[in-house]
Amino acid sequence: MRPRIFVTGGRGMVGRTLLEQLDPAEWTIAAPSRAELDLTDARATAVFIADFRPDAIVHAAGRVGGIQANISEPVDFLVMNTDIGRNVILGANAAGVRKFINLASSCVYPNDRDVALREEDILSGPLEPTNEGYAIAKIFALRLCQYLNRQSGSAYFKTLIPCNLYGPNDHFNPEVSHLVPAAIQKIATAKRLGSESVEIWGDGTARREFLYTGDLANAILRAIRDFERLPELMNVGLGYDFSVLEYYKAAAAAVDWRGYFTYDETKPVGMRRKLVDVTRQAEWGWRPLTTLYDGLAMTYRGFQEINR
Ligand SMILES: NC(=O)c1ccc[n+]([C@@H]2O[C@H](COP(=O)([O-])OP(=O)(O)OC[C@H]3O[C@@H](n4cnc5c(N)ncnc54)[C@H](OP(=O)(O)O)[C@@H]3O)[C@@H](O)[C@H]2O)c1
Repeated sequence: MRPRIFVTGGRGMVGRTLLEQLDPAEWTIAAPSRAELDLTDARATAVFIADFRPDAIVHAAGRVGGIQANISEPVDFLVMNTDIGRNVILGANAAGVRKFINLASSCVYPNDRDVALREEDILSGPLEPTNEGYAIAKIFALRLCQYLNRQSGSAYFKTLIPCNLYGPNDHFNPEVSHLVPAAIQKIATAKRLGSESVEIWGDGTARREFLYTGDLANAILRAIRDFERLPELMNVGLGYDFSVLEYYKAAAAAVDWRGYFTYDETKPVGMRRKLVDVTRQAEWGWRPLTTLYDGLAMTYRGFQEINR
């Protein structure tokens, strides 16, 4: 009989990319939409997990959004993500699930470091105020996983902490989009309208680490297969970063637009730099393989499909 896997957030960027890579000949897959299973409903979530009896769970659901959404709706980001994390993790524990992969985010780290962030840095300094509620909910979930392991003397609950992500299943709506989809959206629009310039928020020198979602999905599949050797808490990232201007230049190459950039230095740019330490990832024996140019070209194709 095929093993059973439950993927939460299967309609989201990470969940969809993972489902594209999961082989249905190898797995019995459950990935209900939010309409089919609202994970803020503790009872419904526990009943679903108990009935499906998954061998593995990848928890990729959450209320996820950009800076503006986090600033305007901090209550939702804190409460919904805390509820979802609690319900899925405790539901899995009650059902005896032995392989649980929780997805956190690098927002769990202090915002006052200019060196690569190590897993042991969590709760060692102030969080970024703009998404503090979201970060607290993510820290709650990862600590709950660690406490369950500690209390039971086992290691069934593990957390991956990806850096920023981008990919074809990204959200290109300018209201909610992150740096990479915003760059593609702006540059594709400039190409369509014949505009010669595109505006960048800030001066373009802030540095960011973006991982291609296909690479994260590959790391998750490997984590399911090699679960015992997977550290309890592990960053997933590139281990190096690019400037905002470099992302815009690479996006311009992927879109094949040859204009110039202007800078609005009155706009907020967030942290100067944020990079995750990939020592544990390297020791585990994994690294991402997609180049920035290839990742952006595939992301642009995803954008074109949506806008066809
Ligand atoms: N995107 C990034 O750059 C990034 C970076 C690091 C870590 N992560 C982490 O990766 C995970 C997935 O992120 P993502 O980018 O894939 O987010 P996403 O595209 O917004 O997907 C999140 C998914 O969660 C579902 N969801 C939200 N509330 C739900 C509820 N109450 N019940 C059931 N499903 C619910 C959403 O369903 P609807 O579509 O119906 O709303 C959506 O399918 C998150 O834990 C996030 O923190 C993301």
